[in-house]
Amino acid sequence: MQIKIAPSILDCDLTQLRQSVAEVEEAGAELLHVDVADGHFVPNIMSGPRLTAAVKQVATVPVDVHLMITDPAEYAPAFIRAGADIVLFHVEAVDDAPELVRFLQGQGVQAGVVVKPDTPASAVEPVAGLADCLMAMTVQPGFSGQSFMESGCAKIPQLRQMFGSDIDIYVDGGIGPETAPVAVRYGANVLAASSAVFNADVPPGEAIARLRETALEALGEGKSPA
Ligand code: DX5
Ligand code: ZN
Repeated sequence: MQIKIAPSILDCDLTQLRQSVAEVEEAGAELLHVDVADGHFVPNIMSGPRLTAAVKQVATVPVDVHLMITDPAEYAPAFIRAGADIVLFHVEAVDDAPELVRFLQGQGVQAGVVVKPDTPASAVEPVAGLADCLMAMTVQPGFSGQSFMESGCAKIPQLRQMFGSDIDIYVDGGIGPETAPVAVRYGANVLAASSAVFNADVPPGEAIARLRETALEALGEGKSPA
């Protein structure tokens, strides 16, 4: 299982976006994560299509947008026009998740389905064999810097059973060097992280390396001792 790191640009220095993106890409970040919040689905407002377009302009790796919004079907096209490569929407926000997944894929992007910590795995069963990726929230969505909820990971083994070993399963929220090992042991392979990358006591590049190392070690794939 390939471990991928998806830094959320939420906590980067937005006045230095190009540099922040270059720094995490140089450190091997496989994806860039843009958190979008509408002040309705979650009690916070952040990011829109213009910021997404700016990230896309300076990025060389795929850009994912995490739509924490009430009406993802209505607004997804604006993020696709902005250059999103992967659109992740919350299953709790839609009546017909398979329909939105097909719509997104028809627009040429990958479709991801997100579940809040308390939403059971069964909620995404209708998109089994259809969605391109999944995301298990390990905090209540809305803000960076919250504490990791291990309970959000408990459904991942079930998701793996339903969706197979090849699909990317993100965890998002409170992911850092102490919690990444827990998440990957449950079967997650994509680590979305904001504060642990951009507000760490080491530069973002080092923070990413540490995150990856701890995750790989937990899977028994760490560096062998010299
Ligand atoms: C939470 C967002 C996360 C958040 C992660 O609502 O979806 O992507 O930015 O931030 P940290 O890594 O600080 O928990
Ligand atoms: Zn997110």
